[in-house]
Amino acid sequence: MEFQNADIISVNQFDRPDLEKVFTLSDQMREIARGKIRNRLLDGKILANLFLEASTRSRMSFASAFSRLGGDVNSTTGMTFSSMAKGESLEDTISVIEQYCDVIAMRNPVTGSAQIAADVANVPVINAGDGIGEHPTQALLDAYTINAEKGRVDDLTITMTGDLKYGRTVHSLAKLMSNFDDIKFVFAAPDDFQMPDDIIEDLRAKGFDVMQTDDLDGNLPEADVVYSTRLQKERLSEADRGKDINSIFQITRAKVEQLCKKDVTIMHPLPRNDEVSTDVNPLPNAAYYRQAGYGMQVRMALYLLIFGKDGDLE
Ligand code: NCD
Repeated sequence: MEFQNADIISVNQFDRPDLEKVFTLSDQMREIARGKIRNRLLDGKILANLFLEASTRSRMSFASAFSRLGGDVNSTTGMTFSSMAKGESLEDTISVIEQYCDVIAMRNPVTGSAQIAADVANVPVINAGDGIGEHPTQALLDAYTINAEKGRVDDLTITMTGDLKYGRTVHSLAKLMSNFDDIKFVFAAPDDFQMPDDIIEDLRAKGFDVMQTDDLDGNLPEADVVYSTRLQKERLSEADRGKDINSIFQITRAKVEQLCKKDVTIMHPLPRNDEVSTDVNPLPNAAYYRQAGYGMQVRMALYLLIFGKDGDLE
């Protein structure tokens, strides 16, 4: 894809060379992301961070990544504090906000809203999560994490578990991983919280080995990567409300030590509830905090590509 001035709405936009480009540039962001090298390539640019749904890490990660490259950030958080609480349409909000900035990162509870915003805006729009739809930058950073932790993204068994029905991070990651070869997908969740059929059908049509199961423990021994997600309580249908899956589809230190491969990588987009117990934290396998750190590098890489500044790196 052509990254310059592009909206980032769905992982379907990326092919493998695009991903390799993002990964290589993300590697180069390492020291800048940690503040060890100063960089001002986005000097004079403004990011509008429009977060209309709860967020801590994505909002701060989008903002800090922009600041580390010398740009300025203007944020608004939550419907209550935005003009949408006064009945303003998304289209009007975007048409106004774009007057204040050079790029918009938006999180919105409505699936499909990122595309609507992108259709209206004359500046690039980055989807920071649209309802149960997609979270493309999370998927990029997840794939980057897998590459960093395993040394490859091909030829792996990835077990996704938890709320696969309402979790947008797993929707985006499953689709993104289809750019790689010889991946076995294991989707371990109760029937009511399984991966949507269209994603499963698409992976199978592309020739991937896909397993759906409600037996997490029985499938842990073959996993190279375990990607856990929390129950998306704020998005459940009436019928699914009140079901507790976190404690059943739980990863504990005992399971990691007794059932998993020695070098299994445990990931989670965070925030977690109790689906990954805190006794996993000290294990070298626990990659979820590092994952958040890699996210900074990946978002920085994406900004440079969107502004056509990737060639200006020293
Ligand atoms: C996720 C999200 O917002 O979809 N969080 C994140 O961006 N890291 C996961 C979640 O909320 O469960």
